[in-house]
Amino acid sequence: MVLQVVKFRHHFRQRFSPLSNFLVCKFTTSPPPPPPPPSSPPSSGHFITTPIFYVNAQPHIGHLYTSVVADTYHRYRKLQRPTEGEGGLPPIFSTGTDEHGMKIEKAAKKEGLPDGKTILHCDKVSKSFRDMTQQFSIDCTDFVRTTEPRHFKAVSHFWEKLHDQGHIYKSEYQGWYSIADEAFIPESNLIEKVDGKGGTIKVSEESGHPVEWTKEENYIFKLTKFLPDVSHWIKTCNPIKPEKFADILLRWIDEGFEDLSVSRPKSRLSWGIPVPKDDTQVIYVWLDALVNYLTVAGYPDKLNQWPPTLQVVGKDIIKFHGIYWPAFLMAAGLEPPKEILCHSHWTIDGKKMSKSLGNVVDPFELGKTYGTDGLRYFLLREGTPQSDANFTEEKMRRMLNAELADTFGNLLSRCSGKLVNPGQKWPDWDHQNFPDALGQHGTALKESLESLPDKVETSYNEFIFYRGLEHIMTTIRLANLYVEDTKPWALAKTAPSDPVLLSMLSLVFETLRITSILTFPVMPNLSSSVLDRLNVAPTERNWASLKNFIWEKQEASDRSLGPVHNVLYKRIRL
Ligand code: ME8
Ligand code: MG
Repeated sequence: MVLQVVKFRHHFRQRFSPLSNFLVCKFTTSPPPPPPPPSSPPSSGHFITTPIFYVNAQPHIGHLYTSVVADTYHRYRKLQRPTEGEGGLPPIFSTGTDEHGMKIEKAAKKEGLPDGKTILHCDKVSKSFRDMTQQFSIDCTDFVRTTEPRHFKAVSHFWEKLHDQGHIYKSEYQGWYSIADEAFIPESNLIEKVDGKGGTIKVSEESGHPVEWTKEENYIFKLTKFLPDVSHWIKTCNPIKPEKFADILLRWIDEGFEDLSVSRPKSRLSWGIPVPKDDTQVIYVWLDALVNYLTVAGYPDKLNQWPPTLQVVGKDIIKFHGIYWPAFLMAAGLEPPKEILCHSHWTIDGKKMSKSLGNVVDPFELGKTYGTDGLRYFLLREGTPQSDANFTEEKMRRMLNAELADTFGNLLSRCSGKLVNPGQKWPDWDHQNFPDALGQHGTALKESLESLPDKVETSYNEFIFYRGLEHIMTTIRLANLYVEDTKPWALAKTAPSDPVLLSMLSLVFETLRITSILTFPVMPNLSSSVLDRLNVAPTERNWASLKNFIWEKQEASDRSLGPVHNVLYKRIRL
């Protein structure tokens, strides 16, 4: 193993001599260093990306899902390291739209736009994606469009770099091209399918999209030369999560790839970035699209940050991100990403979501009925990286009613209402009397809270958000049991200063504080409204404050509740 690593480094150094200590940190066996204290020198922030989405069709919940996964992780990191990047390089979280290629050109034509007006179509659909990020509180620091001048510049420069280093050659290329996938598909990955007219057509086995035979002069990237390095990177740096997708990539590499066509004749494809110094050719859309991650980092001028720390993608595009992308980067002498999170798909009635099947789910419509945070919550509560999740509105309605309305919202309203809490106070912890007054349920709840932040942290670190939310819900359910057991509505009338009542209120508000901070990355608006109601200061809405448990505080403080607000989450009725 060690030998292999040394060989790998040597191999890298030889080929990419200007590279400094590429990948070196990954070979140490010691655990990563703890986060620096706030007073240490400026650090650079994290760098998270989503794919850039095609503007051939409107956004659907699959696009939103990827964006919410990335946003949740970005917000979680910010809670954990609120000063990250302060005085140094701030975190980057980018998303955007992929606007070149035949697929987009066709979509614009279908709308009746003449040649030369494709951009009008792009403007319109790109705006829908931007609206989606805004409406669903996707806290991106950049939204990149591949039709922007800064991207044009980055792609041209990147191309020249590959070309000048001899990694691109010109040759005749022939094969089966799928416009929907914007990719040549090897013969071995094609199957015959009956077309509507009694004949058969060839389609990609993986995507089901039809292909057409294409023979043309192209520029070719020497992909095969980099495959051993890509394979080493996957094996030694462990960048692909979950591991299942690393295994798939390694199997594909074993099965073999050909060199990759990276341009198309302008006569076939005009909607794209021209090959530098050869305007008879246009750069392949996937090369164009992948470079967006460099564009947002400031390439080709000074790179603000490199490489990305986390790239979130769906399993449909893992080949492009897990094989072509690191190969391109290595060829250009740049470090591949630290981590790629690949997630599975949302299906509808067990079927793939697609425009042709007419089963595409519109996030904007759902957001109106279920609330934008409601939809975010459901997507993360039900979706997993490991396997496909099936979407049904019924399931979503039941879950949101059960968890956000009847569990989370209920806990808040039960303890903050005027009847139970006429003084609108969050009682301070009474070290003398509360421990005994907690009873069995209260003690169990307190213990559950003590271990909750670490459990959620472990789940979020592994991108298993549903499990984190499950832990949180278990604790909130425990709190509801405790409230039912204590019957505060009765005590408030007969014994308003009984430690049983006061300890219950104090502990339940503490439960709400902790669970709202923990759910903040997933549903920032709903969680903030709870924290506002509890009057939690902005400086205390972070990960470090989670464990400043109220029962560890010695000093008394004025804990008046914040302004009354409406019900946290209104039950959805049919
Ligand atoms: O592939 N379930 O764009 P795209 C979950 N432009 N996520 C889904 C999904 C589903 N059913 N369907 C789509 C492209 N997605 C390229 C990317 S990046 C340099 C270029 C999500 O509009 C998922 O993230 O087809 C998937 O990878 C992405 O949308 C594909 O979006
Ligand atoms: Mg797609």
